[in-house]
Amino acid sequence: MSDSPGAPDFIREEAARRLSRAENVIFVGAGKGGVGKSLISALLALALVDEGKRVGLMDVDVHGSALSHILGASGPVVAGRKGIEPTLTRGIHLMSVSLLVGDSPLPALGEVERSLVVTMMALTNWPSLDYLVVDLPPGTGDEIISALRVARGRGEAGFGALVVATPSLVARRVVRRLLSLLRDERVRVLGLVENMSYVPCPGGGVVKPFGEGGVDGLAEEFGIPVLARFPMDPRVEEAIEAGGPVHRCSEEISRAVDDLVRGVVSRMGG
Ligand SMILES: Nc1ncnc2c1ncn2[C@@H]1O[C@H](COP(=O)(O)OP(=O)(O)OP(=O)(O)O)[C@@H](O)[C@H]1O
Ligand SMILES: [Mg+2]
Repeated sequence: MSDSPGAPDFIREEAARRLSRAENVIFVGAGKGGVGKSLISALLALALVDEGKRVGLMDVDVHGSALSHILGASGPVVAGRKGIEPTLTRGIHLMSVSLLVGDSPLPALGEVERSLVVTMMALTNWPSLDYLVVDLPPGTGDEIISALRVARGRGEAGFGALVVATPSLVARRVVRRLLSLLRDERVRVLGLVENMSYVPCPGGGVVKPFGEGGVDGLAEEFGIPVLARFPMDPRVEEAIEAGGPVHRCSEEISRAVDDLVRGVVSRMGG
């Protein structure tokens, strides 16, 4: 791996300049696919808007862009003289690959794909923001490393990562790889978010399909907190379908969202 994988220097410099419009940049990653990174990113962004914060949300998943579906946003985003203008959806300034290309696949391969996250950062004309939440694609490849290095240049006060994990053994093994990468790259991890932690039962009580304590083990190993635990909740799907406030779709989700926002805001220094 080269020192600067992915995007060329001038793109990385422009990406850093544009990121500087946000007081706080939060990367949401997992390494693993399908564990709920996009959902958690959307819930966090919606809740921060409720707190009166100016929030941007960026989805840079070339192949599996999901945020605009979760938020019910429709494109296209427009390119102006200063770059691509994010669309305002539910109070969130949203930039998503799917708003650029709709449901068509984006033909990004090789070098283009490796530099895509940083290139999108460089091309997006963000307004001044309190928080920019970046929903990362799965994996731990060059596109992610390149983006981490650009954001890391902001220093600890302005940049942190949230790592989403489900308690399943397979997911934890993959998430561990991302945590090791973040440690090697000296990126501050704000904490873990445990998703699909339990399933609430209709008559009361819960089921824990992946057992207990797995994510706590990861937290202990890497010396980081578990900021929130989200249930696997069918009301999420219902709220997405109905276009409702998915971050307040059930008491359990709402509680976890509040824990997450409290953890993020306090660890980013208010
Ligand atoms: N706690 C949950 N309760 C109910 N549904 C959930 C929960 N977490 C995730 N989902 C659903 O599971 C699907 C996958 O979640 P999501 O797209 O957020 O995962 P991801 O990690 O971003 O995936 P990818 O790796 O493809 O980017 C989505 O339909 C999402 O709404
Ligand atoms: Mg996703």
